[in-house]
Amino acid sequence: MSDTTPKSATANQMWGGRFATGPDAIMQAINASIGFDKRLYAQDIQGSRAHAAMLAATGILTNKDVEAIREGLLTVLSEIEAGNFTFKVELEDIHMNVEARLKEIIGEPAGRLHTARSRNDQVAVDFRLWVRDQCDAAITGIEALMRAFLAQAEAGADWVMPGFTHLQTAQPVTWGHHMMAYVEMLGRDRSRFADARKRMNESPLGAAALAGTSFPIDRQMTATALGFDRPTANSLDSVSDRDFALEFLSAASICAMHLSRFAEELVIWSSAQFRFVRLSDRWTTGSSIMPQKKNPDAAELLRAKLGRILGATVALFTVMKGLPLTYSKDMQEDKEQVFDASDTLMLGLAAMTGMVQDMTANRDSLAAAAASGFSTATDLADWLVRTLNLPFRDAHHVTGTLVAKAEAKGCDLPDLTLAEMQSVHPGITADVFTVLGVENSVRSRMSYGGTAPEQVRAQIARWKELLK
Ligand code: ARG
Repeated sequence: MSDTTPKSATANQMWGGRFATGPDAIMQAINASIGFDKRLYAQDIQGSRAHAAMLAATGILTNKDVEAIREGLLTVLSEIEAGNFTFKVELEDIHMNVEARLKEIIGEPAGRLHTARSRNDQVAVDFRLWVRDQCDAAITGIEALMRAFLAQAEAGADWVMPGFTHLQTAQPVTWGHHMMAYVEMLGRDRSRFADARKRMNESPLGAAALAGTSFPIDRQMTATALGFDRPTANSLDSVSDRDFALEFLSAASICAMHLSRFAEELVIWSSAQFRFVRLSDRWTTGSSIMPQKKNPDAAELLRAKLGRILGATVALFTVMKGLPLTYSKDMQEDKEQVFDASDTLMLGLAAMTGMVQDMTANRDSLAAAAASGFSTATDLADWLVRTLNLPFRDAHHVTGTLVAKAEAKGCDLPDLTLAEMQSVHPGITADVFTVLGVENSVRSRMSYGGTAPEQVRAQIARWKELLK
């Protein structure tokens, strides 16, 4: 097209000056982010209000203009919140949608709001504010789930169940101990989100397009107004950094991985073969053909959700990999991933909390399973070491022979007679039977962090205090 081509009426009003025509319809479709970044409207308006107040305080804009801007922004906010706002795809993103509407409402001063600012630092600040909120929401959700596990642990601090390695019966443990294992995992998740939040709590606003600005802005003022600890220290990094989103996604992935592990345990435990727990009707579904069925659908979905969250994490890493400084439009691909991952995590935490609150442990099944599978074989070996002073390797061998004997007889270790025991090692006395019971077994695991009910109760008390 020649330079004399008349400007199309649809050339963008924000930068149309050097453009002859508006974008191709397909360009608009691939370029626009308003379909998803409208979720940032509150943060966008919050950031603009802080920016405007600073422009007035520094004398860059007049108080009169800024008053109009801040009032106008509140009107836009209430329109969006009331559902009376028309988001326009030709205005590309939330930033331009808000500004264009502001112009309709207050006229000329709206055009001054973008002084000493760029959409690059604007989107960086909006998105940080949003992700920061999600860290808080994740922490709240995690704490609720921790409390649900704590309640389960407290109810069954001394209930015995099999502990597994390789999903094979290993040693008896307590129900409370198993529940508290998840409290530990979630405690780490909580600290990961808190830690990421701390690191991301710096304001990129005022980095402008990439180089800072020649206007005498006050970045500390906007940082404080938006609840940030300080302004970011390098303008290039400020507009090109998405570490905060990656950290959020990474923490979310680890947390979702923990949820998937308990989800898998619930699927196994609620089966007719295990019957360790009964899930409530609120978290299960029936089958249209098999009337006996109660399917652990919520648990199965939670087992799967990590796929989405980890997928989002990999997607954003892939977007960011190899991007030259500073902002590139590639980075617009950050938001949908984080939105979806965050929604998925919050829903997952809420669902898991409900399931854990509502589930009923079957104490008898747990106890019966704990006593089977020669679960106290280690206790027997330890007794041989302690009482007969056998080297552990020899004790292990003697015990293995006794397990084989019991297996051949079709009974468990405590069902062997003393004579049968003595035929394997003559030094064994009737005292051995005291360690073959599962209750004694768990009570004896008194090492710090061990499964003894006393230890479990100490950990419950510690976490209750920490969660106060
Ligand atoms: N919608 C854009 C995004 O989400 C906003 C920043 C655009 N900046 C620019 N120079 N095109 O990343």
